Amino acid sequence: MAEAEAQQRGGYAEDVSAERLAEIGLRFEVDGEIATITLDRPDKRNAQTFATWSALARIGESLPEQVRVVVVKGEGPSFSAGIDLRMFTPEGVPGQGSFSSAVKIGDAEFEQRIRQAQAGFLWLRRPEIVSIAAVQGHAIGAGFQLALACDLRIVADDVAFCMKEPALGLVPDLTGTKPLVELVGLAKAIDICLTARTVHADEAMRIGLVEKVVARGDLSQAVRDKAAELLSTNRDAAVATKRLLQGARSRTLEEQSVAEGLEQAARIKALFP
Ligand code: CAA
Repeated sequence: MAEAEAQQRGGYAEDVSAERLAEIGLRFEVDGEIATITLDRPDKRNAQTFATWSALARIGESLPEQVRVVVVKGEGPSFSAGIDLRMFTPEGVPGQGSFSSAVKIGDAEFEQRIRQAQAGFLWLRRPEIVSIAAVQGHAIGAGFQLALACDLRIVADDVAFCMKEPALGLVPDLTGTKPLVELVGLAKAIDICLTARTVHADEAMRIGLVEKVVARGDLSQAVRDKAAELLSTNRDAAVATKRLLQGARSRTLEEQSVAEGLEQAARIKALFP
């Protein structure tokens, strides 16, 4: 049974015990309404593996209900140098194989494995939480996409975003293309991805990729301040408002007005029973 569940989760029996997370290179801490996920393999610039993504998905599944803000950060000089480059070698990552072994499992299974990896990123957009990426140094490939998976990005002035995948013959497939286009527009997203160039802090701020740039030493405090601001509003109203904002792009003005009315009616009923 445990084996079957593990297969469902991408082949790894990920649990979110501190010991297992430490093996993978992650930390997960909850302090009241704030949860913090730390990529914690600084000596390898927080390179990510399938186990990282599987564990992120499990953290999302088991997130305590009281959590309203999720901070995603990286230990050391870089937020994340992206996928563990051992995946490109014949030996691969111990216990996780390599891309050359992964393609041998068949198309359907491989696509399923990618979807499982994406599950580690997708939950960060749930209406019940606001996710903040605290990004310093390099955020490359999967690192850039993890930052894009969050609702907000607060960054240090040494930030260096790079969508390296096309340079490696790959596409960004960890849910990053949609938020990138939505944040910076199609032309800028094409420019950033198809050149695999680096976007530094000034440009990131100018094109709307990040919410705030601070000095490296002020990053943690800036994130704490934003979390406190987010927690200062009514929880249920925040959830309903995020739901509305997330749906706005795909609805007409009329449809969005109807949705606003429905959410407001529910709010007013809850406030004045
Ligand atoms: N995977 C595995 N190990 C990595 C790594 C990665 N992605 N990035 C860095 N490391 C390791 C290095 O091998 C080195 O290990 P050793 O000390 O054992 O030699 C250690 O981390 C420190 O690396 P550097 O000395 O290079 O550190 P730096 O601070 O000078 O440079 C860096 C940092 C610019 C991020 C550089 O390490 C780098 O360019 N890394 C590779 C980035 C990359 O190409 N990532 C893949 C992106 S594509 C992607 O992510 C695809 C996808 O999702 C499918």
